[in-house]
Amino acid sequence: MKKPLRIAITGAGGQICYSLLFRVACGDLLGPDQPVILHLLDIPAAEQVMKGVLMELEDCAFPLLRDMSASTNPKAAFRDCDIAFLIGSRPRSKGMERRDLLEINGGIFKAQGQALSEVAQRTVKVLVVGNPANTNGLIACHHARELDPRNFSSMMRLDHNRALTQLALKIGHPVHDLQRMTVWGNHSTTQFPDVSQVLVNGSPLTTILQDPQWVEQIFIPTIQKRGAAVIEARGLSSAASAANAALSHMRDWIRGTPAGDWVTMGVPSDGSYGIPEGLMCGMPVTCQEGHYEIVQGIELSPQSRSLIQQTCQELSSEKEAVAMLLD
Ligand code: NAD
Ligand code: LMR
Repeated sequence: MKKPLRIAITGAGGQICYSLLFRVACGDLLGPDQPVILHLLDIPAAEQVMKGVLMELEDCAFPLLRDMSASTNPKAAFRDCDIAFLIGSRPRSKGMERRDLLEINGGIFKAQGQALSEVAQRTVKVLVVGNPANTNGLIACHHARELDPRNFSSMMRLDHNRALTQLALKIGHPVHDLQRMTVWGNHSTTQFPDVSQVLVNGSPLTTILQDPQWVEQIFIPTIQKRGAAVIEARGLSSAASAANAALSHMRDWIRGTPAGDWVTMGVPSDGSYGIPEGLMCGMPVTCQEGHYEIVQGIELSPQSRSLIQQTCQELSSEKEAVAMLLD
């Protein structure tokens, strides 16, 4: 049996974690031969709820779950962790945009970036889910001065999955047949879900879907506004689908993406595709042996370039808005 890996999960008393924790503990993240130790973190007001979650985890008798603890202290929760899901923060409610959460949530990620830098494994893989996820990811990464920025990522996978399903429904194929979806930019209404590279059973989507108006007028706005539509319907922000996306993001980063395919991750921009360096931006990546690479060589139309530029401008303006947290 392998040595257990330590997985820190923040916001452990919240909605997303109530789906995520049980899937991680049963092996959905790291496979059936990888034991895990869970480190739960939340704020003091959620201590009692965390106790209840620990009790339920015990009651599942998961063979792979070797140990677990709950804490309200980031340094205790992040100590020696190999993987960190930063979920804890306030969700938006009806009528809010995700960027309205910047002021409320931004500070959380400064403190957590510093704590990770001090006590986590040097190889820790961090996924920021708490909104606005890209800019919070940037804040955490900035303050983790002793860690490589490539250890940090933010969640665009829910947008990626939403795009796959809406496209699959439109063309009447199972999601399984689709490859090479990308969602560029910010996890916000400016994001650009890009179908131009999508393959359907190896053939370009354009040979099957000849309806550019549907892409522009229906598909893109549907994906951009899907989070708000879920809030409208549920009265709460997406939770099980967000947990599923977080798990898939981390699983693929660690265990690799399928040959010939790629996924969308929010990662620190390196100048590829003219996206300014220093943003945490949704981009197409392949993953192998625990490392991601930004897919190179995609030919972008002038219209795609302009949409990418718009969403990156929003990321830059969010970055300016939190300049006091990036000193
Ligand atoms: P929730 O309100 O159900 O739970 C949030 C939990 O975080 C609570 O238990 C709260 O006590 C805890 N928390 C608050 N401050 C904390 C801190 N400093 N340290 C640790 N824990 C803290 O919310 P949720 O539905 O689980 O959503 C969590 C976040 O994820 C929200 O910001 C939401 O907008 C975001 N989200 C992002 C995506 C994405 O695709 N990036 C998708 C869905 C939700
Ligand atoms: C989502 O996309 O469902 C989440 O980011 C929640 C939200 O505020 O939209």
